[in-house]
Amino acid sequence: MASLPGTTDRRIDALLTLLAENSTIVISGAKIAKEIGVTRQQVWRWIEQLRQLGVRVKGHPRTGYHIERVPDILVPQMLSHRLYGTPFARRIFHFFKIDSTNSVAMQLGESGEPHGAVVLAEEQTAGRGRAGRSWTSEKSAGIYCSILLRPPIPPAHAPLLTLVAGLAARDAAAEELDALPDIRWPNDLLVGGRKFCGILTEMHAEPDRIHYAVIGIGININQSKMPADLAAIATSLRIETGKAHSRFELLIRLLQHFDRYYNQFLADGALPVLRRFAQVSSYYEGKRVRITTATESFTGTTAGLEPSGVLRVARDDGRGVEAVLSGDVAEAS
Ligand code: BTN
Repeated sequence: MASLPGTTDRRIDALLTLLAENSTIVISGAKIAKEIGVTRQQVWRWIEQLRQLGVRVKGHPRTGYHIERVPDILVPQMLSHRLYGTPFARRIFHFFKIDSTNSVAMQLGESGEPHGAVVLAEEQTAGRGRAGRSWTSEKSAGIYCSILLRPPIPPAHAPLLTLVAGLAARDAAAEELDALPDIRWPNDLLVGGRKFCGILTEMHAEPDRIHYAVIGIGININQSKMPADLAAIATSLRIETGKAHSRFELLIRLLQHFDRYYNQFLADGALPVLRRFAQVSSYYEGKRVRITTATESFTGTTAGLEPSGVLRVARDDGRGVEAVLSGDVAEAS
């Protein structure tokens, strides 16, 4: 299995887990040092490093340490405990800072990492969006997560994987919102008409077989405002609800829902996925849209999904119903 440079030191992970799991007591530096197998001086240095990242740890080497509030850092060891029984518990790669979690997950796919690996970052310096756009990834404000899959399906069914991811993210976020989130095909999540979650699926495949697929999910959670150029079209859960949300809990729910939809898809095929999409997306049918593909732009009305997950649009120009494989979908008047 692959090991990766730049991932968060497993022992910092263990230190945070230890402090968080003992949040009601003061634990001595010596005890921590013994448990995670480093010197007391190293414990002190890491505690200082965590403080600089905003983790509120009280105390010093003589009295022992005590965490004031369990930090909302996506600590692999704690995530792994909570995801027990899913394929995502086994290999979680965490970075404080990385260019793009999708790039890392694609490299892992290439080097033979098994199905279910999860790559997480507190901050991305070159987060990627669809159609060559970038994804703004403010430090510790959102979820920046990529899931590596080795799905036993042909590439033609890959749009269904994208729908599965959108449904999982939608269900996880719905529990945090007062208003119901919408899904703009294939998988932009919107609330009040503004986007708070985007998904980028990339894969390496042959005509009849997917070697690996990476599902990259970005969710705006605790941003208190969006950059000026995005404010009209993008939002965060915090902006919508006026309160902070736990990224940790939301990520767990996201991966649990993903596991459920993915297994259902493998066991029962596309139908349950398509039915669920029809229930929760206003874009499924009867929506006036403008479609922009690499070659053209046209308006029409949505007319359901093909069994492969592709969007059907009845064109205004009289050229019948078009199956839209990929492209930008915008609401049209
Ligand atoms: C979109 O354009 O809507 C897709 C955005 C996908 C962003 C996520 S953040 C985690 C993962 N890493 C990336 O570089 N992109 C995806």
